[in-house]
Amino acid sequence: MSPDPNRPTRRRPRLIVAASGGIAATKTPSVLRRLREAGCEVRAAATDDAYAFVTRLSLAVAAGGEVLDRELWFRADGRVRHLEWGRWADGLVVAPATADALASAASGRAHDVVSALIAGGVPRVLWAPAMNPAMWEHPPVQANVRTLAALGHAFVGPVEGPLGGVEEGTGMGRMAEPEAIVAAALGLPFDRDLQGVRVLVSAGPTREYLDPVRFLSNPSSGRTGFAVAEAAHARGASVTLVTGPSGLPDPPGVEVVRVEDAASMGAALEAAFDACDLVVMTAAVGDWRAAERSDRKEPKTEGDLTVRLVRTPDLLAGLARRRRHQVLVGFAMETHEGVERAARKARDKGLAFIALNYPAREGVGFAAEANDITLVRADGSAQPWPRMSKRDLADRLLDEALPLLSRAADDVTDPA
Ligand code: CTP
Repeated sequence: MSPDPNRPTRRRPRLIVAASGGIAATKTPSVLRRLREAGCEVRAAATDDAYAFVTRLSLAVAAGGEVLDRELWFRADGRVRHLEWGRWADGLVVAPATADALASAASGRAHDVVSALIAGGVPRVLWAPAMNPAMWEHPPVQANVRTLAALGHAFVGPVEGPLGGVEEGTGMGRMAEPEAIVAAALGLPFDRDLQGVRVLVSAGPTREYLDPVRFLSNPSSGRTGFAVAEAAHARGASVTLVTGPSGLPDPPGVEVVRVEDAASMGAALEAAFDACDLVVMTAAVGDWRAAERSDRKEPKTEGDLTVRLVRTPDLLAGLARRRRHQVLVGFAMETHEGVERAARKARDKGLAFIALNYPAREGVGFAAEANDITLVRADGSAQPWPRMSKRDLADRLLDEALPLLSRAADDVTDPA
């Protein structure tokens, strides 16, 4: 995509560099200094344990300002600094990152400044892990790394190096050198190109109850919609995520509305629709509900049971009827072919495009990390995309929608 000449020139990246408690914290001031030299605006943060290895003064001098530590965080002046700093920043660099810092972030804790900045929704995170090789290889540590990577967090290192303390030999666990950390930080995609855009995302399955304990549903995990919400937030959008039952945790910084059935999903989407600019409808909305829902759980009987089902409203079509400047993106699911049907859906529902996916293919689909989609437009043109992670898919879909957004807004402000 060629750069838009009307886009304002980007300001200097704003980065918080946080030290957690490891011997490599002696190098954190050097990371700060080099990032400043590279043209970034920087701030420093430190966990309590980091101060066993690096002083507050050396971090403050290297950053050229106050350090976000427990003392500043808990200062009784009415400020909520982990949120204020998170909004200021384009990204957070955790160097060094201990096993404990990774575990806190992966489990959604907010008990120290690093985990609180992340839980509060800082847009990008780069980890520079540093620990003993046995700890780095410990399966739960690796599981935490995978969890964070799936959320779009980036990693630099660790690298091979001599072991610390009394141990002899070398191993994988040494923090990457400051130059490598700076290069990785500058490579973060912290372009906030959706700043000021309001994105409404639907995700997950719906549940249509037959009685208080039995329902009709589908295996949607919500992963694609959660990834779209996270990616849009990271790019500066304000995001509302309306999701049916999903085991996924709330993405930091995103307004999440949890619903059960198609009717409550429809109500939540309608409530947010007028104020939004882009709708990405990934939810697997149930097409039918029971004509009569029993308030009591009826015990099973010997014979068969016939249930009459009636159609649920098409939520996306309903939103399309209320559309003013909004850009609408839909999803469709087919087990074969489907381009023509998807194009018809895009036309009928007034959508910018449809992401057509094939849940029956191996390695993709409901609960998988990756997806194969074909981008189908109302005019019938279809573009198959290579297999990619749901987070990459989310970013690509936002890239496709972005140029349409300004055009849709122009349609409203400038009818000529
Ligand atoms: N959708 C909706 N309300 C429904 C059903 C679907 O808003 N009651 C949305 C979906 O979230 C999706 C798009 O409409 O973004 C396309 O879904 P749908 O028309 O149901 O297509 P398929 O899932 O492909 O199903 P089918 O071919 O059976 O119609």
